[in-house]
Amino acid sequence: MRKLIVAGNWKMNTSVAEGVELAKKVSAYAQQKNLPAGKQIVIAPPFTHLAPVAGVIDANKVILAAQDCAATKNGAYTGEVSASMLKGLGVKAVILGHSERRQYFKENSEILLKKIKLALEEGLDVIFCVGETKDQREAGANLYFNVIKAQLVDTVFTLTKEEFAKIVIAYEPVWAIGTGLTATPEQAQEIHEFIRKEVAANFGAQVAEDTTILYGGSCKPSNAAEIFAKKDVDGGLIGGAALKAEDFGKIIDAR
Ligand code: PGA
Repeated sequence: MRKLIVAGNWKMNTSVAEGVELAKKVSAYAQQKNLPAGKQIVIAPPFTHLAPVAGVIDANKVILAAQDCAATKNGAYTGEVSASMLKGLGVKAVILGHSERRQYFKENSEILLKKIKLALEEGLDVIFCVGETKDQREAGANLYFNVIKAQLVDTVFTLTKEEFAKIVIAYEPVWAIGTGLTATPEQAQEIHEFIRKEVAANFGAQVAEDTTILYGGSCKPSNAAEIFAKKDVDGGLIGGAALKAEDFGKIIDAR
């Protein structure tokens, strides 16, 4: 069954103490809400916050995710954090392919596929981000559809059906991330529908029906409901607005 997910990507924000407080508030909110089965709240704090946050959240109500993992299993890779280390902390999912990782850390499909496979081997779910840049959007629909298709074909579409069942796709137009510019509900729906069709072409109609596709990019309490109302939008990946428990709660309520 398709899950509805509202996920908070904290990026490189909050001190450990602030993060723990935020996590406590999100967890208390989730406990009080009694969400229906199939609706999930995810938070992705920085690596340094994962262990203390794991200690304060109700793991039955809030899923702990990391923002990245290493492309190698273990060994001499100074500064890296492996999927198995994350697993050991109680992390259940990992965000991979975020445009900030692609842009600032030069992560390409080859690297991302290694990360995806290692995360899946550890039993972690993967929130895999795709999306076009402003230039690609402005070059017209032929180009931006192809960009998104290639991001999928080179990575998650090489997985088996069983592996792909652990993948959540997040459509995040790069021009909308942290910019205050949000895709219109129609723009989001157009891409989400396209992604679902491509999933169907690859893995069949049932898999496509069961795939969760999130929207991300300047999603906030004032616009979440109209975006989430679109039929192929199954929730959101939230950056800035996930840093305030109250705003994040309103976005959770919007779906
Ligand atoms: P934003 O970030 O909500 O701050 O635009 C979204 C994301 O990058 O996941």
